[in-house]
Amino acid sequence: MRSTLLAGLLAFAVSKVTSQDTYWSVQSKPFFLVLKSHNQTINGSYLYPCHEGAAIEGLCLGEKRADDYGQFTHNTSAQTPLPTSGLLTWELRGFNFNVSSAMRFQYNDASNVAIPLFFPGNSDYNAVNFTEAGVMNILSYQDDTKPLPNYSGGPLCRWYICTTYYGYLYQTLAWVMGEGKPQNPTCQKVEVIRQWV
Ligand SMILES: *[C@@H]1O[C@H](CO)[C@@H](O)[C@H](O)[C@H]1NC(C)=O
Ligand SMILES: *[C@@H]1O[C@H](CO)[C@@H](O)[C@H](O)[C@H]1NC(C)=O
Ligand SMILES: *[C@@H]1O[C@H](CO)[C@@H](O)[C@H](O)[C@H]1NC(C)=O
Ligand SMILES: *[C@@H]1O[C@H](CO)[C@@H](O)[C@H](O)[C@H]1NC(C)=O
Ligand SMILES: *[C@@H]1O[C@H](CO)[C@@H](O)[C@H](O)[C@H]1NC(C)=O
Ligand SMILES: *[C@@H]1O[C@H](CO)[C@@H](O)[C@H](O)[C@H]1NC(C)=O
Repeated sequence: MRSTLLAGLLAFAVSKVTSQDTYWSVQSKPFFLVLKSHNQTINGSYLYPCHEGAAIEGLCLGEKRADDYGQFTHNTSAQTPLPTSGLLTWELRGFNFNVSSAMRFQYNDASNVAIPLFFPGNSDYNAVNFTEAGVMNILSYQDDTKPLPNYSGGPLCRWYICTTYYGYLYQTLAWVMGEGKPQNPTCQKVEVIRQWV
């Protein structure tokens, strides 16, 4: 029963992907995501995709070594003349299919802490960019701490490692909305660095 349900869900996920938007089709070389932190325990640790639900993965705190399972790519678009933000992607591998999955945030109305998750396809996403030095960021287009409209936002790096709960209790990457401190007391500030494979 369970395996039938799972197979059905995966078939659904894959069928959704066949109608996937091809806008984000310029794929980077693969890279690892490595943490930079003042906390020596996690400084230099890798992020890896961890099971949060059927075909859904979070970004879990891993060990201080590279692992084939944690290779990501950055999908941008050829349809803009300038380098753009793009999708953080990871390939889900099943028995008889591979499907590219894009990262999106799972928001919680009761919190300022969002959980990055990979879902098959690109019907939804939160775009990220990388500095020349490979620091993962998100571009702010409007700074609402100033009188609006104000387009002076720039790249933000509001990444944390927190104990989160979507499908399971894990230490995962998280994003904090706004300038304030994360309300989840387990969160610790990190930077996320792209390291080419
Ligand atoms: C990323 O780009 C590759 C190569 O064009 C494509 O096969 C894949 O479906 C894209 N992934 C997403 C999530 O759009
Ligand atoms: C974190 O790791 C980097 C690279 O190994 C090192 O240069 C840096 O000093 C470390 N920082 C701390 C606080 O341990
Ligand atoms: C360092 O990180 C570990 C693992 O997340 C955590 O258990 C520990 O409390 C952290 N230490 C500090 C000083 O934040
Ligand atoms: C999925 O990708 C892996 C690695 O590129 C490849 O070995 C495998 O044959 C692919 N599977 C399918 C069903 O395309
Ligand atoms: C993304 O980052 C690159 C530098 O790595 C920069 O050239 C580009 O302008 C950034 N994209 C946007 C939309 O700001
Ligand atoms: C945004 O706000 C800052 C600080 O108030 C101001 O200096 C800047 O000119 C504003 N930019 C725009 C585009 O409104």
